[in-house]
Amino acid sequence: MNIVILAAGAGKRMRSALPKVLHPLAGRPLLSHVIDTARALAPTRIVIVVGHGAEAVQKAVAAPDVQFAVQAEQLGTGHAVQQALPLLDPAQPTLVLYGDVPLTRSSTLKRLIDSAVEGRYGLLTVTLDDPHGYGRIVRDTAGYVVRIVEQKDATPEQLRIAEVNTGIVVAPTAQLAMWLGSLRNDNAQGEFYLTDVVEHAIEAGFDIVTAQPDEVWETLGVNSKAQLAELERIHQRNIAESLLQAGVTLADPARLDVRGALVCGQDVSIDIDCIFEGSVTLADDVTIGAHCVLRDATIGAGTRIEPYTYIDGATVGAHVVLGPYARLRPGTVLSDEVHIGNFVEVKNAVLGVGSKANHLTYIGDSDVGSGVNVGAGTITCNYDGANKHRTVIEDNVFIGSDTQLVAPVRVGRGATIAAGTTVWKDVPDGVLVMNEKTQTSNHGYVRPVKKK
Ligand code: UD1
Ligand code: MG
Repeated sequence: MNIVILAAGAGKRMRSALPKVLHPLAGRPLLSHVIDTARALAPTRIVIVVGHGAEAVQKAVAAPDVQFAVQAEQLGTGHAVQQALPLLDPAQPTLVLYGDVPLTRSSTLKRLIDSAVEGRYGLLTVTLDDPHGYGRIVRDTAGYVVRIVEQKDATPEQLRIAEVNTGIVVAPTAQLAMWLGSLRNDNAQGEFYLTDVVEHAIEAGFDIVTAQPDEVWETLGVNSKAQLAELERIHQRNIAESLLQAGVTLADPARLDVRGALVCGQDVSIDIDCIFEGSVTLADDVTIGAHCVLRDATIGAGTRIEPYTYIDGATVGAHVVLGPYARLRPGTVLSDEVHIGNFVEVKNAVLGVGSKANHLTYIGDSDVGSGVNVGAGTITCNYDGANKHRTVIEDNVFIGSDTQLVAPVRVGRGATIAAGTTVWKDVPDGVLVMNEKTQTSNHGYVRPVKKK
């Protein structure tokens, strides 16, 4: 099968410099969702018709299994499909999809395709409470489709028809090419309508068959930011429903956003307003507090993530405790039973089993062993203004509060660093290290008083 995706429109009502089909739904371009649906049908060819912002669109979705046809001027949906013809296999049927209709299920399309076998022309139609703006499906008294009439061309009687054209069709390709060639644009919009092909198909003796989607939202398109926001909520509700069905506990299914793939084990619990981006895996018994953001992360079993934690590009072991207000940046690998507490930032660092940094700390470009205790206010000074250097902290080191570790530096196994130490030389195993400092007490000291 050939699949043609129409994506040449400007989308003026989006009021944006970004081509309409590149606006993100669940973090990815609208068009990418349509391409994914197309791929699920295992077509032999996918051709995308581009026009407005053609270069940007091609760049955004380029893939080996996708070809592009350019429609320089948008002269109508029929004209758009015509541009794709040279790239199609005439011996196979063609399914037409829309780059701004992102939520159609492949099961619905499968049903349409199956109904439109040999010698048939298939339309996906839907019955709407408010059909305004859509092309209406005109049937004869016996119930056969005779034509599609656009809103702007319809008679008052036709405007009362509630069954509308979704735009999605399956057609025999060789014949479609002929029919498209004989389209005329003498209509209210001066466009070459793909919908007019129906009448040519009937003349040529083809049966027009129709299929309906399971849900109306499968056929909704995006023309404005309001519609984009509406589809985003529908999509997120669908994702939340499938998570609930899989046994995930969601404090509120309406307050969760998944922009990518979220895989959950058993008895995972997610509090309100969490965002998951990219590829996130949560193992069994993970609990996530309110207002967390997780992007491209793997979280081990039984790990507890407290509220307002931000994780990006990290691998977290089992029974770890994170946050509240923790930040894990790319390249972070935490072993089992690690604790990372409030206002602790970890970047490109590996922490061994059971190590803890509970308060106000920066650990960057570091290899931290197991059983290490990092006191409050510890900073790895990994950047010298030009290059980044590594800090190595071996097993069972105890780091007192307010310590700076100036990289490159190594702290030997079991060493103890006194509070307030600046470590700029390697520390041998097992020692206590501190900087020479004195403490004096001035007994006659009087605090300044504010001038009146
Ligand atoms: C079209 C259908 C209408 C249907 C409706 C469903 C026609 C003539 N009408 O109307 O029956 O109810 O969709 O939403 O087909 N496009 C191009 N090149 C063009 C024109 C359009 O790529 O020259 C693309 C647009 O970017 C858009 C899609 O085709 O994604 C539909 O075009 P649009 O002008 O919105 O069609 P409608 O008037 O909504
Ligand atoms: Mg239009």
